[in-house]
Amino acid sequence: MNINSIEIYRSPADGSKLTIDINKQVSNKVIDGNFKSRTGHIFKIKNGIPDFTWPKELAEIDRKTKDLYDKLADDYDIYVNVLYETYRCDQVSLRSKITKKLQLKPSDKVLDIGCGSGDSSKFIAECLDSKGELFVQDLSPRFLEKAITKLQKYSIISRIISIWSCFFKTIFSIQRVCRF
Ligand SMILES: C[S@@+](CC[C@H](N)C(=O)[O-])C[C@H]1O[C@@H](n2cnc3c(N)ncnc32)[C@H](O)[C@@H]1O
Repeated sequence: MNINSIEIYRSPADGSKLTIDINKQVSNKVIDGNFKSRTGHIFKIKNGIPDFTWPKELAEIDRKTKDLYDKLADDYDIYVNVLYETYRCDQVSLRSKITKKLQLKPSDKVLDIGCGSGDSSKFIAECLDSKGELFVQDLSPRFLEKAITKLQKYSIISRIISIWSCFFKTIFSIQRVCRF
């Protein structure tokens, strides 16, 4: 998580600003620490990923989904490839075609919800320049780690913020919601 991004987060408990205690930082990246809300809630930052899960106790359906996807994360890319191949569909060209339909401008701010291992996020990253921002979010921290690894090579990485359950100040006036 980029240290310059701290300001954008708000407490999912009450929407208030957060303070941060940093335990580990490498150059401009916060690797380990805690966000604290005005009302005393603590949101951990682990492996550079802030966990804004709220309520802390997930609903059963979300907990089951998270557990399932956490288990799938390591092999997901292999199996998803097999799925595309089964339907004789080229994954790269399909994802590229879908991303083009978004008609993104280089300065757009994009939130990829349920980004998974980042296979679509990387096409989005390619559409943005240094004024644009890409935020990736997923219920599964294992998937987020995969996505971040894939997105490292894009220069926009300094603007990629990984979150679990998103709470921003009003940087997003939502103009469009697109479902992949
Ligand atoms: C089928 S994968 C798709 C991943 C990616 N968007 C892609 O196109 O490859 C679905 C993803 O949604 C995530 N997900 C499921 N429920 C979610 C929720 N309530 N909030 C955020 N992410 C969720 C899963 O963890 C998983 O990574």
